[in-house]
Parts: sequence; structure tokens; C-alpha cells
Amino acid sequence: MSALFEPFKLKSTTLRNRIAVPPMCQYMAVDGVINDWHHVHYAQIARGGAGLVIVEATAVSPEGRITPGCTGIWNDEQAKAFAPTVAAIKAAGAVPGIQLAHAGRKASANRPWEGDDHIAEIDARGWQTIAPSPIEFGAHLPKVPRAMTLDDIARVREDFVAAAKRALDAGFEWLELHFAHGYLGQSFFSEHSNQRNDAYGGSLENRSRFLLETLAAVRKVWPEHLPLTARFGVIEYDGRDEQTLAESIELAKNFKREGLDMLGVSVGFSTPAARIPWAPAFLAPIAQKVRRAAGLPVSSAWGIGTPELAERCVASEQLDLVMVGRAHLANPHWPYFAAQELRVERAAWTLPAPYAHWLERYKMG
Ligand SMILES: Cc1cc2nc3c(=O)[nH]c(=O)nc-3n(C[C@H](O)[C@H](O)[C@H](O)COP(=O)(O)O)c2cc1C
Repeated sequence: MSALFEPFKLKSTTLRNRIAVPPMCQYMAVDGVINDWHHVHYAQIARGGAGLVIVEATAVSPEGRITPGCTGIWNDEQAKAFAPTVAAIKAAGAVPGIQLAHAGRKASANRPWEGDDHIAEIDARGWQTIAPSPIEFGAHLPKVPRAMTLDDIARVREDFVAAAKRALDAGFEWLELHFAHGYLGQSFFSEHSNQRNDAYGGSLENRSRFLLETLAAVRKVWPEHLPLTARFGVIEYDGRDEQTLAESIELAKNFKREGLDMLGVSVGFSTPAARIPWAPAFLAPIAQKVRRAAGLPVSSAWGIGTPELAERCVASEQLDLVMVGRAHLANPHWPYFAAQELRVERAAWTLPAPYAHWLERYKMG
């Protein structure tokens, strides 16, 4: 028996196994609209056998994009363009999810292979970034953001709500709010980026306010029977980890109270001074701590690229879902080969008849 290949039920949604493809920006959109590249990418990955495919960080407003190539869902044209890709993911047997995002002070950047740095001030492709406080991230992202007014905060919250409605209309069945990786949600929580002295800064309660209000507003329009999740950096590796983790657990409990169904446990990436202890599955024990303390199902990623490790993370109850990212880019059929390696019998979940007939008959692989 394999724990990794057990189905997973959350609300009324059942995933065929515990393997999820995490959101991975392609930076290939034009004006936020997805195109044939995205379609091929998501369709082939879904065909590979994962239970859940989460479409990349998709901006809720133009200024919320990381780069000019990021996908968006702030207008109907963008939402409509997702429909064939959503249908393809479903036809391949996976559940289609989407991550809604606002990049905050890390927005207005060049694509990774074009520098990954902020677009120069004089370059017309760039734009003014916004954030809780006028504090730059630093390093390759030196732009000082404009501090958000209370009106800005209310507008971005409503942008998330409008984006959630469009995602539902486009056919998505799983929603993830991107509150991680130093983007806008995380930057309200972190004192590296939030020095406000109003109701949205200072105490833990105040630094949590934007995230909890946004979650609560989205929950009202996202159907109760469909999973609503968030990705959040519970730890920064900045020397204050005990305190950050304790605060993150409090936040996770409050997320649960506001109707969150699952937490994607990640790193905060709020400061370039972080010293991250990269190692295979290094976050899994931390995710388990949050899972136990908050009583929420959890997923996590980062270096869980071998079937044995993925199996162990689920079997040892560290993770409910394993996010397998780059290994899927290298091999979109990763789950099929993982099933073979783990000697999972009758891998019918990933073998529709037109493939099964030939693969089983000639014993390939
Ligand atoms: C090309 C690429 C794009 C990514 N884009 C996103 C994103 O849109 N949203 C997000 O939360 N994480 C993003 N990430 C992080 C991944 O979701 C994942 O956490 C990371 O790749 C670690 O998992 P892995 O070791 O299995 O690759 C991205 C990673 C890669 C490699």
C-alpha cells in the first residue's frame, strides 16, 4: 500500500492521489492572458497523473503582477482564456486549481531569465509598486514601494474577491490565495516590510488583519463546498524563527476560523538576508508542527522530488499533500513513474485505456 497514492478528500473534492503540482509562473502571458504555451504546459502535466494542478500565481490587478509576463484575472477576457485549459486539466483526471496573487513590493520585475531584478524606473514596461510601508526589499529588488492607503487596502481586497468570482466562472474547483514569498499578503505579516502604525501594522492582530479580511471576503463568494486554501511563509530563517513560527501558528488558527480548508506551508522570503537551510523536504517537519498545532491539513514543497521521499512525507503524516514542482517540469509524467517505483498496483488512475493497452501489453519502462 502506498500512502502517496491514496485519494484525498477536501470538502466535496476528491483528488485521485496526494501529488499536487504547485503553482509555477511561466512568465509567458501577454497582457495577463494565457496562451497556447500555458495550455500545453498544464494539459501535459495534468495528464502525468497528479491529483491537483494549481495554475501559477495569477494577478488580481495589473500592478499585482511580478513581471509583465505574468498571468492575470482582473478582466473577463483573461478569465475566459482559462476555460480550455481548465477543461483539459479535468479531462486528464486532475482537479484544476488556481493561485490568486498580488506581488506587492516585489512586482514590476524582469522575467527570471532576463535578470529577475526590478525593471528600471525609466523603462515604460515597469510600474509603481505598492506595499504596507515604503520599504524596499533590497538586493536585486531596490524599488521603494508606495505605502498603501486604507482605500488601497480595501481595493486590493475587493480585487481578490472579483478574481475569485472569475476563477469560479472559468471552472476552477480549488482556490489558493498567495500569501507567501514576500508578496503582498506576506509583507503585511512581516515586520521586515510592515512598519505601519495604524490598524494594519504593529501587533500580531494588526499584521494579520489584511490576510484575514481578504480570506473572509473571498470565502463569502467562493462556494462552501469547494476547497479554499492559502500559501503562507511560516518561517523566514532570519534568526527570529521561534517567534515567527509561533505567530504563524496563531495566524493559521485564525485562518481556520475564517474558513480556510488547507494551508500551503512555505518560506516567507521577506528579506534577502535570510539563510535558508536548503535540503530535501526540509520544510516537511515544520509543516507537520503547523498541521498539529492548528488542526489544519497542510501541503508543502521544496525538494520533494523522489517518490520515496514523497511517500515518506505522507506516510509519516507530515503532509497531507506533497507539492512536486521542478520534478514535474523535468518529467510531466512524474506520478506514473513514481507509481512504478513504489510498486503501486493497478495504477489505473493514470492509465486511460488508449495508453494502458500498449504500456501493459509491451511492459514498457
Ligand atoms: C518556474 C517556477 C515558478 C514558480 N512560481 C510560483 C508561483 O507562481 N507561486 C508560488 O507560490 N510558488 C512558485 N514557485 C515555487 C514552487 O511552487 C515550489 O514551491 C518550488 O519550486 C519548490 O518545489 P520543488 O522543489 O518541488 O520544485 C515557482 C517555482 C518555479 C521553479
